[in-house]
Amino acid sequence: MTPTGDHTEAVEALLHEERSFAPSEAFAAHANATADVYKAAAADPEAWWALQARTLEWATPFEEVLAWDSPHATWFADGTLNASVNCVDRHVAAGRGGKVAFHWVGEPEGDTATITYADLLERVSRAANALEELGVKPLDRVAIYMPMIPEAVVAMLACARLGAPHSVIFGGFSADALVDRITDADCRFVITADGGYRRGSAAALKAQVDEAMASCPGVERVLVVQRTGQEVAWDDARDVWWHDIVDRQAPVHEPAAFPAEHPLYVMYTSGTTAKPKGIFHTTGGYLTHTSTTHRLVFDIKPETDVCWTSADIGWVTGHSYIVYGPLTNGVTQVMYEGTPDAGGKDRWWRIVEEYGVTILYTAPTAIRTFMKWGDEFPASHDLSSLRLLGSVGEPINPEAWMWYRKHIGGGRCPIVDTWWQTETGGIMISPLPGVTATKPGAAMVPFPGISAEVVDNDGDPVPDGHGGLLVITRPWPGMLRGIWGDEERYRDTYWSRFDGRYYFAGDGAKRDEDGDLWLLGRVDDVMNISGHRLSTAEVEHALVGHPAVAEAAVVGASDDTTGQAIVAFVTLKVADEVADGDDAEIVASIRAHVAEVISPIAKPRQIILTPDLPKTRSGKIMRRLLRDVAEHRDLGDVTTLTDPTVVNMIDGLMAAHASDDD
Ligand code: PRX
Repeated sequence: MTPTGDHTEAVEALLHEERSFAPSEAFAAHANATADVYKAAAADPEAWWALQARTLEWATPFEEVLAWDSPHATWFADGTLNASVNCVDRHVAAGRGGKVAFHWVGEPEGDTATITYADLLERVSRAANALEELGVKPLDRVAIYMPMIPEAVVAMLACARLGAPHSVIFGGFSADALVDRITDADCRFVITADGGYRRGSAAALKAQVDEAMASCPGVERVLVVQRTGQEVAWDDARDVWWHDIVDRQAPVHEPAAFPAEHPLYVMYTSGTTAKPKGIFHTTGGYLTHTSTTHRLVFDIKPETDVCWTSADIGWVTGHSYIVYGPLTNGVTQVMYEGTPDAGGKDRWWRIVEEYGVTILYTAPTAIRTFMKWGDEFPASHDLSSLRLLGSVGEPINPEAWMWYRKHIGGGRCPIVDTWWQTETGGIMISPLPGVTATKPGAAMVPFPGISAEVVDNDGDPVPDGHGGLLVITRPWPGMLRGIWGDEERYRDTYWSRFDGRYYFAGDGAKRDEDGDLWLLGRVDDVMNISGHRLSTAEVEHALVGHPAVAEAAVVGASDDTTGQAIVAFVTLKVADEVADGDDAEIVASIRAHVAEVISPIAKPRQIILTPDLPKTRSGKIMRRLLRDVAEHRDLGDVTTLTDPTVVNMIDGLMAAHASDDD
């Protein structure tokens, strides 16, 4: 596997980036991190992580730091702790119960709530008592399928309190996707809501759960939060309203302590096959990693900062930088339910102004969308409270970086471009504000205590000025502990590429002339659509499930706003249906089918109906060619194809339907 053609182009472009922004003296003077932190961590990474881990509250302090038997690591394994105590109880016990944990903002105007740490403790305790009453026990898996409402955080923390790993499933996923994930993790319980507000209307969630339940006989109880008040179907034996059972519980709950390696959660993400992987994380190392990175990368001052991570809790960014990192650090956060333009294209900037947000963490896709909408929306609000900006989820192009710096950060806020993955649990590569001079588009350097390298196909580090594959060379506290129920896939996916020596991330990267790191996107069949991770195989699998589709090939083509967009090449079972290469009705039906089977986020931007797909003589679909076609690039050598004319024909079809966008 080598970086593909588009990465080479990206590398070329990056060779010419000469802008660099040194930290301001004013920022550096008060920064949490100094250059010494790198030295201390490099001198003895394990001792450094152990020092960070001791900032947590342990029921039994640990003696052991790391045990590494490739590819399995344990961290702090003889210590015991409770994640929810670290996120909530300890702040209340320290007299900070009156501090705001969340300024929650619902999508409908004026629908807000203020939740202090004392409120959060009471809510988590009641919810934990309710879950116990329903029969939840340590190690039971609980699926959470919820909108961005406070109960989502409460539900996660209540599960953590009981040692019951949660599996949060993004609210945009379909009933079929729920079935796959609930079945794979063998969940006995589901927590959901009637619906949530998105794009100005109440989107149903319980209805999806109801549909999924027909194929999930292992689920005993479904706990339902009333959010929108919309009509819901009800099964008295299975369903229970949150307000009926949680509100009547005692407001205190005695937490048990669990070993550091007790599973905290499972989070499904896309790999290179059609079946999503249940990435699983444990407690002590994960909390150490998320709280330390949160404190240093975002330069957290818990007394004064108001953090806003714009992610959904259905993704790992929400787990690590809305729930576990920030709450462990006891900060105040903003949590927003809806879409960025609900109530106007300046909604976010109104929120920043109203709550005095100091640290904003979002994805390049959002930044590019704001750029498209126009400078006037942020300009019409006072954003002077902001002091640090973060980016995550996909490569950030220099233009978007510069716009973010100027129009959101007022030219004064450091930008931290943070590279990490569901698997890594927390940030791995990022500048440290106040220490690292930043370059537009570069994630720069490994976090202290993290060993990342760019290597060639043989696993040898590339010299400065060259590109290759990103690997992590030593275990780290937040690393995934496995793929739920699939040891072989865990070894194959991450560790077989370099014989157990390195963790293979699946990303291409470049080390520039100064030795700084630039992330260049995936080198495998994983796509990144608006920061959402999807595999070509899972979309193809959904496509061929449509009754009219014979064969499908999917590629991620570059897209100015979403980073990548899905382009699907599809052959139909009945060739006559594509007599003129297009059939709007069938294309619409196929797109709807993909939304139904996976999620609306997986709907292809374009579906090209074609009588044939380009294949090698051994029958492999030539994806690289299709990507070139999708991106209108020169096709190069096509002589290994069984029928080179297929490509030219598809290219023609593509040109004819270039404006197929939604
Ligand atoms: O390709 C990388 C990209 O997102 C992938 C991980 O996706 P996921 O597990 O969904 O986690 C996203 C949030 C942490 C990576 O393999 N990616 C993530 N952050 C960056 C990035 N690509 C470039 N720059 C980043 N800062």
